[in-house]
Amino acid sequence: MTPDNRTAICPGTFDPVTLGHLDVIGRASAMFESLIVGVVNHPWRKTATMFTAEERVAFVEHATAHLGNVRVETFSTLLVDYARARGAMAIVKGLRAISDFEYELEMNQLNRRQAPDIESVYLMASSEYSFLRSSGVKELATFGGDIDELVPVEVARALKERLGR
Ligand code: PNS
Repeated sequence: MTPDNRTAICPGTFDPVTLGHLDVIGRASAMFESLIVGVVNHPWRKTATMFTAEERVAFVEHATAHLGNVRVETFSTLLVDYARARGAMAIVKGLRAISDFEYELEMNQLNRRQAPDIESVYLMASSEYSFLRSSGVKELATFGGDIDELVPVEVARALKERLGR
């Protein structure tokens, strides 16, 4: 499909989605006519996810139901191939701190080499979420920390259930 500047992909593993992800998704949805949240589902990844792809999609769908131009689906191909298949000209990602920059620069250059017609756009994390990552939330939840202000209510409930709390 020919890339279209009205459609963007917001990709991620979202294991699970956090309020930081939702902040980026909400802001990106205001920038494009259509935003597709692409949830990575590749069974050959080295580390297993805590939640299945279906669960991760359901969490994002529930949390973005109020955004009329957002849809959520899984993908298991190269990100740029997925973006092209959906006719998206842009990939939107959040950047939290310098530590994200090096990885994202590398990904950007690899992706640009594969698909120069697809541009990546980076939204700076809002200050209240600049420390927030899914792995940190899982670690906090594992040791009984308070995660209620970091993830949607359903995610907090599911994490506590999964971890037997
Ligand atoms: O940090 P995340 O959420 O695990 O990132 C996932 C993703 C897909 C955004 C990141 O791995 C990326 O930018 N990958 C580009 C390379 C690619 O296409 N990998 C295949 C993913 S199925």
